[in-house]
Amino acid sequence: MADTYSKKIAVEQFGRRSNAYAACGTLMDQTDLDTVVGLLDLKGNETVLDVATGTGYLAMALAPHVKQVIGIDITLGMLELAVQAERERGLGNIENLVGDVEHLPFCDSQFDVVAARFSFHHFPRPLVSLSEMARVLRPGGRLVIEDMVSSEDNAKSEYQNTMENLRDLSHIKHHPASELEQMIQKAGLEVVNKAGGGSDFDLEHWLEMAEPSAVNVETVRGMMKDSMEGDKAGLNVRVEEGRVVFTYATAIVVGRRVLRDYNQPQ
Ligand SMILES: C[S@@+](CC[C@H](N)C(=O)[O-])C[C@H]1O[C@@H](n2cnc3c(N)ncnc32)[C@H](O)[C@@H]1O
Repeated sequence: MADTYSKKIAVEQFGRRSNAYAACGTLMDQTDLDTVVGLLDLKGNETVLDVATGTGYLAMALAPHVKQVIGIDITLGMLELAVQAERERGLGNIENLVGDVEHLPFCDSQFDVVAARFSFHHFPRPLVSLSEMARVLRPGGRLVIEDMVSSEDNAKSEYQNTMENLRDLSHIKHHPASELEQMIQKAGLEVVNKAGGGSDFDLEHWLEMAEPSAVNVETVRGMMKDSMEGDKAGLNVRVEEGRVVFTYATAIVVGRRVLRDYNQPQ
């Protein structure tokens, strides 16, 4: 039940703020999109599923390099903006549909590549989501997950995730990079490539994007400022030209689906 509730919150949050997410510099960052596409070493004949495609930035970056992209997202309002942008760019090989990562409406082994960019932290049951993504991937096919990651230090990770949840009720967890990799392996994939990066944010702009309640805005502002001493959130919060800014660490992990012999004990 709690999972259904958090998915409803995601639909409400992204439906209400779709235009703000469409204008987000981190999502449309071309260097980052080129890195994800480059790590996949595409041949041009792939069928790709972009899970939680949002307003379609990754789908649009992949489309010229593959045969077909299917974008799926739980929020109709995000997909409407994706369809509009894809038409404006004249991309004819992307299709979009509404759906939940935990119940993908596709056959086993249907895709050569499955991707999820900047969305994994919204999935209430991360291992269930990964297993479902692995199911629709052909053996030997590749899964790419890109997401913000938290510190490997438990206290810092908790501090960061508490603030994130106050800012955006649909936030579940920014995992430490090592935890993300372990889950990908548990879902039956071997890690074949990875990259790390970072993305700077202005605190006030970041708060405006999610539009939390006034009381939560105040709490998060206070926690961010408190975290500067000793870097309690692991976000390197600092003041630059009178503005509070911080840096998200990001991870891109590429896993290859291993062909398991289910007749053998695991
Ligand atoms: C930040 S946006 C994704 C950005 C996009 N992947 C890109 O590269 O531009 C996060 C998206 O996750 C979607 N989402 C959240 N929970 C989901 C779920 N359970 N199944 C599918 N999509 C989900 C939201 O609707 C939202 O569109």
